[in-house]
Amino acid sequence: MSTSSAPPVWARTTFILAATGSAVGLGNIWKFPFITGEYGGAAFVLVYLACILAIGLPVFVAEVLIGRHTRKNPIGAIEQVARESGAPKAMNVIGLMGVLAGVLILSFYSMIAGWSLDYMLEMAKGTFDGISQADSEARFGNFIGDFDKVMLWHTVFMVISVSIIAAGVIKGLEKSLNIMMPMLVGILLLLVGYSMFSTGHFMEGVNYLFAFNPEAVTREALVKAMGHAFFTLSLGMGAIMTYGAYMPNENSITKTAFVVVCMDTAIALLAGMAIFPIVFAGGGEAAAGPGLMFIALPQAFGSMPGGAVWGTLFFLMVAFAALSSAISLVEPGVSWLTQKTGTSRKVVATGFGVVVWLLGILSVASFSHWSDVKFLAGTFFDNLDYLTSNIMLPLGGILVSIFVGWFVAKPILEEQLPELSPKAMSCWLFFVRVVAPVAIVLAVFVPLVMGFFE
Ligand code: TRP
Repeated sequence: MSTSSAPPVWARTTFILAATGSAVGLGNIWKFPFITGEYGGAAFVLVYLACILAIGLPVFVAEVLIGRHTRKNPIGAIEQVARESGAPKAMNVIGLMGVLAGVLILSFYSMIAGWSLDYMLEMAKGTFDGISQADSEARFGNFIGDFDKVMLWHTVFMVISVSIIAAGVIKGLEKSLNIMMPMLVGILLLLVGYSMFSTGHFMEGVNYLFAFNPEAVTREALVKAMGHAFFTLSLGMGAIMTYGAYMPNENSITKTAFVVVCMDTAIALLAGMAIFPIVFAGGGEAAAGPGLMFIALPQAFGSMPGGAVWGTLFFLMVAFAALSSAISLVEPGVSWLTQKTGTSRKVVATGFGVVVWLLGILSVASFSHWSDVKFLAGTFFDNLDYLTSNIMLPLGGILVSIFVGWFVAKPILEEQLPELSPKAMSCWLFFVRVVAPVAIVLAVFVPLVMGFFE
């Protein structure tokens, strides 16, 4: 079943880079600012922080420990732990659903990452210099409707992602993350500096993110915050579990998890602090929706001196963020098939890449040839986004927390979390057993089911 070579283990700091790289992605830079805008700024941020701490952090620890205990891919890992703990075999669906979710998410994630690559190039060419809001909007509409062009960028992005995965856990993932992550953080800090000193709207942006408005905390905001907590921490599909398998034994899982969660949150907030002042300086609206990053922001850059350079840097940062997340979306499936069949990583990675690329056509065409094909949640793209973020990830999250909280044998937990005192262990277990599943059911599935009857 498995190959003979021992599973690779990363250097001490790589897991933090990898998990942060997975966590920080389009979710932080593209989605978080605009949903914060849509749901009333600071009120939403607070609910989101609560979800991250009460649900995200405990489930994150649960995923890592399964991975590190077994040093296997998510499917093999859950199989083994279920066997060792006498848990029902049905728990295997967690791993399978995770691999599937990764493929589905990457298919549309790659398209949006591809949009960023195009924007990086167009920024550098000065396409947005002095452009009006209306022209920026029209440009975005024309671009996403240009099937061939978007397919080209989707292809470029997939080729880069697959090349990294194919090069291996150490030579591909570890090496590229060592370059991408410092660049990402460096560019972000530069952009926050730019936003602080050159826009003249910095405090406006900060106030927008942090000014509290309790009326804005609606039930819908709650659902969004919870769903986003899962998405942004890459939970619910085995990505973090897969990376856990490469984490050295001397790392403390809880401490590392805390660092990653803080980094992810800090980067989302810093991205907001970079983006909002720039958008305000360009005369744009904060609650601009998904077009915030592709319409209001480029127009704002185009209205400022040196904006072309800063805008290019911005979209380069987005590309790094997307790439370091993309690799975590296919690594679970790739590690599973290489371990299970013994086939070479290059072949498996290419195979996965082709499947994701083909599926991606559905999303790309959702904005052009098939923009009129609508069912359930909307276009193919809308359905993929909805199915993965609103159903598969929360479901994966519930199953992982129930599995780890209720079924996994205590000695496994104690072996992996030696840093926890008995009290701290009980506290963590309470969150994994009760708080996380109940909160997910209340926030995600109850509204979902009620939505059917409305
Ligand atoms: N967390 C990433 C983001 O915020 C997306 C992502 C990467 C992801 N890997 C994942 C989401 C696994 C869910 C599951 O953009």
